[in-house]
Amino acid sequence: MQKKLNKIAQDTNLFLKRFIKRQKKSELIIPMKYGLFSGGKKIRSKILIDIGSIFKINYKSLIILGAAVECIHAYSLIHDDLPCMDNDTIRRGKPSTHIKFGESTAVLAGNSLLTMAFEILSHKDLKVSEKTKVNLINKISESSGHFGIAGGQYLDLSFEHKKVSKKRIIEMDVKKTGKLFSFCCVAPLIIKKKDEKEIKKFENIGADIGLLFQLADDLIDHKGSSLKAGKKTGKDKKKGKATLISLLGYKNTVKYAENLILKINSKVKKYGTKSKNLSDTLDYILNRNK
Ligand code: IPE
Ligand code: IPE
Ligand code: MG
Ligand code: MG
Ligand code: MG
Repeated sequence: MQKKLNKIAQDTNLFLKRFIKRQKKSELIIPMKYGLFSGGKKIRSKILIDIGSIFKINYKSLIILGAAVECIHAYSLIHDDLPCMDNDTIRRGKPSTHIKFGESTAVLAGNSLLTMAFEILSHKDLKVSEKTKVNLINKISESSGHFGIAGGQYLDLSFEHKKVSKKRIIEMDVKKTGKLFSFCCVAPLIIKKKDEKEIKKFENIGADIGLLFQLADDLIDHKGSSLKAGKKTGKDKKKGKATLISLLGYKNTVKYAENLILKINSKVKKYGTKSKNLSDTLDYILNRNK
């Protein structure tokens, strides 16, 4: 798995570096690159490639779509670490972007990475029709705004130190993390012009994968090592974050995550041997230590 992820990271970073190089220079590019090329796992891109190979989308297009997703993901992490949000000083084993460059620069670098995703999806590098591009941009926008990352982050912060129901915690996790995974799962179907019903199905699969991903992140925060994770652990409890662990306990959260894997696998197994790659990624997501 690590080998596959390294290859995806290499190809994605190469595309992004070339893309940025062709643009005009600006002062923000250094903090943007700091947040973008600091060594993320590229799990979202891996999911895109797993689903994309089921639907026979070419690798190059999947890397471009993944590059757009990784820009949005990097932006969300820069903002997530800001003092007004989680107030975290270490990310991917290095000082957070605002520690290195200051808060206002981190906000603007984050904004610029978010919009760079739209530049990438609308660029001629991506060889799909204009209509498909509009549909992709529409979906990724929905995943990032008040119905997705931003909305989920709002809930995350407003639920601190509060008793929150399981239903609302899951809603928060699906919005802040799940929606971007939903985009990764439906982008191949959008390109293949699949019908609404099938798209909805994969949107739900993506939401479950994202929920699984966030639960694993919460488990790492609860029990993992800061050194391995590359960010401080034990911080969710300190900040009074409403997580499934705070509600159900560690063991039950592991059980919940294992059941999610069974549920997702049962939905994709009809796509044959190609769905095996996705199943392997799901196991990696739950068992990782960073
Ligand atoms: C961390 O995401 C933030 C969450 C959404 C839980 P990742 O664990 O994918 O971060 P990187 O990109 O590998 O650093
Ligand atoms: C972040 O969740 C979710 C985002 C959408 C950025 P966390 O706040 O748990 O992520 P970490 O633990 O700081 O990486
Ligand atoms: Mg957070
Ligand atoms: Mg955080
Ligand atoms: Mg976390």
